[in-house]
Amino acid sequence: MRPPLFTSLLVLLKSAHAAVTWTATPFSPASFPLAVRSPYLSAWLPQGDGTALNEAWPQFWTGSILGWAGYVNVDGTSYNFLGVPDVPNTNAQKAVQKSSEFTSTQSIFVLTAGPIDITISFLSPVEPSDLLNQSLPFSYLAVSAAPNDGSSHSVQIYTDISAEWVSGDDSLTVNWTTSTGNLITHQVQLEDQTVFGEVSDHIQQGSAYYSTLSSSGITYQTGQDIVVRAQFINHSTLLNTEDTNFRAVSNDWPVFALAHDLGTISGASEPVVYSVGHARDPAVEYIIANDALQNRSSYFWSRYATAGDAISTFLGDYENAVARADAFDAKVQADASEISSTYAGLVALSVRQAFGGIEFTVSKDDTGAFNTSDIMTFLKEISSDGNVNTVDVIFPAWPIFLYTNPVIGKDLLLPLFEYQATGQYPNEWACHDMGSVYPMALGHNDGNDEKMPIEESGNMLIMSLSYVQKSGDTSLITTYYKLLNQWAEYLIANTLIPGDQISTDDFAGALANQTNLAIKGIIGIKAMAVMADMVGDTATSANYSSIASSYVSQWQGFATASDGLHLTLSYGNDSSWGLSYNMYADKLLNTNLIPDSVYEMRETVNSLNDFTETYGVPLDTRYVYHFVDTVPDWQSWTAALVTETSVRDMFVDAVQKYAADGLNDVPLSDWYWANTGEVSGFMARPVVGGHLALVCTRKFVRRRY
Ligand SMILES: *[C@@H]1O[C@H](CO)[C@@H](O)[C@H](O)[C@H]1NC(C)=O
Ligand SMILES: *[C@@H]1O[C@H](CO)[C@@H](O)[C@H](O)[C@H]1NC(C)=O
Ligand SMILES: *[C@@H]1O[C@H](CO)[C@@H](O)[C@H](O)[C@H]1NC(C)=O
Ligand SMILES: *[C@@H]1O[C@H](CO)[C@@H](O)[C@H](O)[C@H]1NC(C)=O
Ligand SMILES: *[C@@H]1O[C@H](CO)[C@@H](O)[C@H](O)[C@H]1NC(C)=O
Ligand SMILES: *[C@@H]1O[C@H](CO)[C@@H](O)[C@H](O)[C@H]1NC(C)=O
Ligand SMILES: *[C@@H]1O[C@H](CO)[C@@H](O)[C@H](O)[C@H]1NC(C)=O
Ligand SMILES: *[C@@H]1O[C@H](CO)[C@@H](O)[C@H](O)[C@H]1NC(C)=O
Repeated sequence: MRPPLFTSLLVLLKSAHAAVTWTATPFSPASFPLAVRSPYLSAWLPQGDGTALNEAWPQFWTGSILGWAGYVNVDGTSYNFLGVPDVPNTNAQKAVQKSSEFTSTQSIFVLTAGPIDITISFLSPVEPSDLLNQSLPFSYLAVSAAPNDGSSHSVQIYTDISAEWVSGDDSLTVNWTTSTGNLITHQVQLEDQTVFGEVSDHIQQGSAYYSTLSSSGITYQTGQDIVVRAQFINHSTLLNTEDTNFRAVSNDWPVFALAHDLGTISGASEPVVYSVGHARDPAVEYIIANDALQNRSSYFWSRYATAGDAISTFLGDYENAVARADAFDAKVQADASEISSTYAGLVALSVRQAFGGIEFTVSKDDTGAFNTSDIMTFLKEISSDGNVNTVDVIFPAWPIFLYTNPVIGKDLLLPLFEYQATGQYPNEWACHDMGSVYPMALGHNDGNDEKMPIEESGNMLIMSLSYVQKSGDTSLITTYYKLLNQWAEYLIANTLIPGDQISTDDFAGALANQTNLAIKGIIGIKAMAVMADMVGDTATSANYSSIASSYVSQWQGFATASDGLHLTLSYGNDSSWGLSYNMYADKLLNTNLIPDSVYEMRETVNSLNDFTETYGVPLDTRYVYHFVDTVPDWQSWTAALVTETSVRDMFVDAVQKYAADGLNDVPLSDWYWANTGEVSGFMARPVVGGHLALVCTRKFVRRRY
C-alpha cells in the first residue's frame, strides 16, 4: 500500500525547517551520545531539528537533566560552550557551534569563542578486545583551544557536573569529597543509598566521579552552581575550596568544578582531559544454586583497589585510548562502508548505545578474592521494562557482539545457562530473562516470567551455535548440552504448528501459527543438529537435521500465500504479511535450510516496495492499516537477508532517514511510525546492535553445513 497522501505531506512539512546551522558529519542524529558506557552512565545531547552543545543540558537517557556545564575564558571574556547555565550578574557570551561529528566511539563539537576555536571531544571507549577495560564505567571529555585569528590569547577552561548524576530524585541529600594529589577528583553520592535500587532508572547506589590529572594551572571548587560558575566567569580561576554543607541535589544546586589555565596560546593547545563516571559495588545480585544469592562486582574492581586508582590509570591512558578508539572507529567505518556511507553513519550512531546497555561483572570466591574465571555480562532491557538479560533483547543486539568479540555474547548467555543448569527454572523451554528489575538477576523459580517459549528457545540455540562458529570454542555446547537439547526437543514438539504465543514483538499481542516464529524454531532445531555434530553426537545430529528439513518443507506449504507470491503473517491468512526477519538466522549460521526460492519470492522483492512508507516497512499487516509501526533492528535484519541490493538499500536508507530527519530528540528508538518517522515507544535500548546485521554476515567466516 502506498502511503496516504496526507501523511507524505505531513512529513514534508515537518522536515522543512531543519535548523542545523553547522556542519554535521555524517548527519545530525536524534540525540548525541556524550558519556554512554553503562545503563547508569548514559549522558546524551538531545537534538530535534538541531541543538548546539550550549543550547540544552545533557540528559540521562530518560530525558532528565544531567548538569554538565562548560566555559572558556579568552582574554578575560567568558564564553559558555556546554550546557545552558544561567548565572545572574555575569555577562558570559555564547560560543557559536561550527561543526558536529560522531563516530562509533566519539562525539566531537567545534565552537567559536571570539578569537579562538575550541574542540570538545566526548569519548566513550568501546574496548571489545579487553573486557576489563570495557567494564570501566568512565568516559572522557577533552577540550582543546586554537586561535582563529593568528594572534596569541590567554585561555582558561572550566567544566563542572551537578549532583543530578547520582539520583533519579533531586530532593534527596547528597554528600561529596574532593581529593587532590596526582589526581584531582570530586566524588559525590547519595547519603542514603539503596543497594540494587533504582529511582526513575537511576541507580541509588555508588558514586559519581569528576576528575582530571594534576598539572600546573589547575584549580577546583565545590559549591552552589551560580557561585562557583560566577567565580570562574569573573576571575578565570577557582578557589580550591570545598563546600561541606551537604544538602539535596536541588538545594542551591551543588556543583563539582575543575578549571585549567592554558596560559597564553599562539597555536593549538594540548587537550584538557576530564573523566566523568559512575561506579558502584556490588553491581549485580545474581541467583545461584539452592536459591542463594551472589553479589557480583564490576569487572574492573578485580584490577583496581580504589576508584581513584582506576581513574588515574584511565586518565593516564587517554592518548592510547584515543588511538585505540580511532582504530576501532576506522574499522567499523570501513566494514560498514562496503554497504554504503548511509549505512556507515547509522552503524556508528548505534555502537555506543548498544554497549551502553551492558555491564561486565566478576564474582568472589569463598576467601573473598575475585574469581576472574567467572565473568558474566548483564544487560538492561532499557526503557521497555528494565528486565535483566532478556533473551529476546540480547538476540536482536547479537550482531554487534558477534562482530566485535563473540566472547561478549557468550558472557551475556552465561547467566541464563548457569541459572537454568541449577534446575530451579521449572519450564521445559528457555526462560525469558534473568530478573524483572535490573540489576537484580533473581531468576524465575516460579516459572512466571513473560512467556515466549518458541522465541527464547530458538534464540538460545541460534545464539549458541553462532558463538561457537565464530569463536571455535565448543565448551558452551559440552557444558550445557542437556539444556540445549531440552530446548530443541521443545521446539520439535511445538514449532511447526505454533500455538497462540507471543513473539519478541510482544506489543503486537499473541497469534497462533506465526510464520516468522515457526521458522525461528525450525532454525533452532537445525542449530542443535549442527551443535550435536560438533561434539560427536552424530545420531542426534542426523535425526534433528532430517526433522528440520522436513519441517521447512511443511512450513513453506503452510506459510506461503495461495498465489505463491508471499509469506503470510500467519498460516492460511492470504491477506496477511510480515517481515519474516528470523530467516536472517539461516544466513548468519549458514545452515542453508530455507530454499532460495523463498528469499526470491516476489513478496521479499517487489511487493516490499508496495508496503513501504517514508521511514520503512511496517512490521506486519496488523500495522499497515492502523499504527504503521516499524522496528528498525528488524528492518536491518531483513536488509541482510533480501537478495536484491536495491531492497537492502531501501531498508537501510529508511532507518537512517528516521535517525537523521530531525523529528526526534531521544536516543535511537527501536519502535517508530513508518509513515511519520516519530518515536512510538522504546529508546536507548541495546537492540540497535542489530543495525550491524549486514556487517556481521559479510564479515562472517563462511562455512557450510
Ligand atoms: C556520605 O554518605 C555516605 C553514605 O551514607 C557515607 O558512607 C560517607 O561517609 C559520607 N561522606 C561524607 C563525606 O560525609
Ligand atoms: C562577578 O561579577 C559580577 C559583576 O561585576 C558581580 O556582581 C558578582 O558579585 C561577581 N561574582 C563573583 C563570585 O565574583
Ligand atoms: C550483597 O551486598 C549487600 C551490600 O553490601 C549486602 O547487604 C548483602 O548482604 C550482600 N549479599 C550477599 C549474598 O553477600
Ligand atoms: C587497557 O587499559 C589499560 C590502561 O587503562 C591500557 O594500558 C591497556 O593497553 C588497555 N588494554 C587494551 C588491550 O586495550
Ligand atoms: C571460579 O569460577 C569458575 C567458573 O564459574 C568456577 O568453575 C570455579 O570453581 C570458581 N573458583 C572458585 C575458587 O570459586
Ligand atoms: C494452524 O495451522 C494448522 C496447519 O495449517 C491448522 O491445522 C490449524 O488449524 C491452525 N491453527 C489455528 C489456531 O489457526
Ligand atoms: C528423533 O528425535 C525425536 C525428538 O526427540 C524423537 O522423538 C525420535 O524418536 C528421534 N528419532 C530417532 C530415529 O532417533
Ligand atoms: C488476516 O490478517 C489480517 C491482517 O493482519 C487481519 O486483519 C485478519 O483479521 C486476519 N484474518 C484472520 C481470519 O485471522
